[in-house]
Amino acid sequence: MTDRSQKRRRIVVTGGAGFIGSHTAVALVEAGYEPVLVDDLRNSREEAVAGIRRIVGREIEWHCVDCGDAAAMAPVFNQPVHGAIHFAADKAVGESVEQPEKYVDNNIGGTARLTALLRQHGVRHLVFSSSCTVYGEAEFLPVSESAPILPAASPYGFTKQACETLLHHAHQAADGDFGVALLRYFNPIGAHPSAEIGELPLGPPANLVPFLTQAVAGLRGPLTVFGDDYPTPDGTCIRDYLHVCDLAAAHVSALRWLERNEGRLETFNLGTGRGASVKEVIAAFTAATGLDVPHRMGPRRSGDVTAIYADPTKAARELEWVTKRSLETCLEDAWRWQQRLGQKE
Ligand code: UD1
Repeated sequence: MTDRSQKRRRIVVTGGAGFIGSHTAVALVEAGYEPVLVDDLRNSREEAVAGIRRIVGREIEWHCVDCGDAAAMAPVFNQPVHGAIHFAADKAVGESVEQPEKYVDNNIGGTARLTALLRQHGVRHLVFSSSCTVYGEAEFLPVSESAPILPAASPYGFTKQACETLLHHAHQAADGDFGVALLRYFNPIGAHPSAEIGELPLGPPANLVPFLTQAVAGLRGPLTVFGDDYPTPDGTCIRDYLHVCDLAAAHVSALRWLERNEGRLETFNLGTGRGASVKEVIAAFTAATGLDVPHRMGPRRSGDVTAIYADPTKAARELEWVTKRSLETCLEDAWRWQQRLGQKE
């Protein structure tokens, strides 16, 4: 490692080989931090680490360990750790319904084990990956951070709510020594414009955009639109899709916010503030790439909310962060990444 990188502030990035973690690692390097990737590859691939290294043009510290395993994590803490960003978690809503115990253990247990380690080692800043799923079917749109937290529609949603509560308690217990930013993501999509990193779903994707790009690439049958009888203008569900590079930048902003606001805890919505329906996403893909999306209408998917999009004004005001990339740019970048992947699934 160079002298320069040793002087940079080390930030532990759990789930650093994952979709959002890998893009955040790049953003951290660009902002002058030193990401320390922690990822045991249970749901990601080593080639993401190689992709990060190619984008930044140098080595990046990576530990292939479970972030909750104290013994395996010891080398991470051999040098001072300035902060942590905790992405490592399971995120397939459908799977969480089948295997709730796995989600409770990995998502809640993993967060508890990591938080204890961070506090033992005197790490003062934690950025946590939460989700707009904590709002359930929101009564008012756009949804702001003060909207009520409704009973979770899935075990996955329950784990995000529980982790937020756990972190409130850990923050209180630390009495000003442990600052926490709880980031509630809306729908992250897209990929790095270099196409060196992107979303690598293992097996059939559960989320809209990877399924859509695989359908266009001919790797899957047509995309099924889950329901066109919702009470929305075109009958399909509405979400707030944001570019993963915009989302990555928000993590750097959150770290800086924690540095300016030592020992505080705050929650931030991260979205564009604009909703797009499934049909609008399909049309935007065609507008961005000139390609048709093979698709058919299907029944509703259980657990889907009708419409949700963010009120991101708190993030704009306090984090000084807004999204910059359009839906078309998101889809162009997602398609470039899919082409790079080729026939790989
Ligand atoms: C879901 C979770 C969210 C979680 C995210 C992580 C809910 C309500 N939301 O987001 O909390 O953080 O997964 O993965 O559980 N769609 C189709 N066809 C498809 C796939 C999706 O029409 O093949 C539609 C869905 O019905 C939805 C939209 O596309 O309206 C987005 O779906 P998806 O990408 O799966 O994300 P969410 O369900 O919004």
